[in-house]
Amino acid sequence: MEQKRRTRIVDLLKTSEIGQQTNVKGWVRTKRGNKHVNFIALNDGSCIHNLQIVVDVPNFDEELLKRITTGASVSIIGEICESTGSGQKVEIQAKEIEILGDCDVDKYPLQPKKHSLEFLREIAHLRFRTNTFGAIARVRHSMIFAVHEFFTKKGFLNIHTPIITASDAEGAGEMFKVTTLDLDNTPKTEEGQIDYSKDFFGKATNLTVSGQLEGELAALAMGEIYTFGPTFRAENSNTTRHLSEFWMIEPEMAFYNLDDNMDLAEEFLKYLIKYALDNCSDDLKFLSQRLQEEEKNKKADERSMELIEKLEFVLAHDFIRLTYSEAIDILKNSKPNKKGKFKYPITGFGSDLQSEHERFLVEKHFKKPVILTDYPKDIKAFYMKLNDDGNTVRAMDVLFPQIGEIIGGSQREDSLEKLTGRMKEMDIPEEEMWWYLDTRRFGSVEHSGFGLGFERMMLFVTGMGNIRDVIPFPRAPKTAEF
Ligand code: 4AD
Ligand code: MG
Repeated sequence: MEQKRRTRIVDLLKTSEIGQQTNVKGWVRTKRGNKHVNFIALNDGSCIHNLQIVVDVPNFDEELLKRITTGASVSIIGEICESTGSGQKVEIQAKEIEILGDCDVDKYPLQPKKHSLEFLREIAHLRFRTNTFGAIARVRHSMIFAVHEFFTKKGFLNIHTPIITASDAEGAGEMFKVTTLDLDNTPKTEEGQIDYSKDFFGKATNLTVSGQLEGELAALAMGEIYTFGPTFRAENSNTTRHLSEFWMIEPEMAFYNLDDNMDLAEEFLKYLIKYALDNCSDDLKFLSQRLQEEEKNKKADERSMELIEKLEFVLAHDFIRLTYSEAIDILKNSKPNKKGKFKYPITGFGSDLQSEHERFLVEKHFKKPVILTDYPKDIKAFYMKLNDDGNTVRAMDVLFPQIGEIIGGSQREDSLEKLTGRMKEMDIPEEEMWWYLDTRRFGSVEHSGFGLGFERMMLFVTGMGNIRDVIPFPRAPKTAEF
């Protein structure tokens, strides 16, 4: 009989074509049963659910059935039947079974039981095959799509900014070098330093930490743009919120001031959350149960809010907006600060905020997402617009529960004079930034932008606790397998 194309499990589970013949292909999660009938739970990655395959044992070769183990890949032709037992609408009564790839079960690291996330990180090449990482991969795709949809609807242009760059946008100096020089035998200048003029690009280059500076060039001609690319930071931060390679979305808008910037950031975050609730409900339900299971042993007041409830909560409330100085007052007088509970005590204006402070404001004090503005210039990048007080800049950080900083952004300094003044103070060579400064020389306008760490957003939406679990192949200090 001629067979139509394979049908994906996500579509089969929605079908009403009872009695029709179909072909499914996938990987066996489990097989159970007795000498009369076997039940195979088959997954093909198209959704969180497995499809139940019913196998009448006497109709099949015993040797063939033995090869249907956890991890094996199979192709099944069979009839779509109404399901009574499996908790799903349909199941497949198998007519033909083909083993596509045997699985050496004794060596297969994924057993049909719960594995720790730490263990799964060591086998990241196989973890897509678990419920948790399948769900995360699908949610991640949906979030990528939602990002492009949001900005497209608003008329923003997506701009590709370079990955290899000669400038250090954030001025933090934590960059990965890009070179083709022979590291064991580098050419030297007369002063004995490495002669980068002999290097591939004729100058020292790095992997970018941000697409912002090039994004600004585009915005100051195109109006509203956004970038969505990989960014790299060589800081040695072994935390649950830092990666060495992460993806960042950076909108940049001409004619926007800081208030417009905050409005856009809030609207954007809510759009992504609503998109997940509307389009990823099966995966979110699974991730919610996973989280509750994981937190079972925590004390009631340490447990996080149920995942879907938390997402709906953020949608339903305005973010709190206040200045850095106001936040410092709150933190300085807070219980944990007075009792010495913060690892980094808050002494007053000028203290850099750590994630413990950010999370106190969001989780304990306001119990809502917070946008902090007007930070001291000394703890922020050179390009932020100086306020009239000469002391603070038009920065904004969006702080989220469990995450801390999820967005960092600012209104940009549009005065050439003030910008070059800041660069002098911070030892940033003007001659290397001539192209950036040209935008302030030729038709400068008020403009603003921000960066959303895509994996931090993924942490929030999936309820996962470690950023290494929301990107397929994490890069972190001493971590670059796969
Ligand atoms: O605050 P950051 O460093 O800001 C910038 O890079 C600006 N150029 C953005 C802009 O205005 N266009 O980084 C922005 C966001 C942070 O809020 C955080 O969500 C994320 O990027 N981020 C990281 N995510 C994962 N791992 C890291 N090491 C990260 N560093 C920053
Ligand atoms: Mg920041």
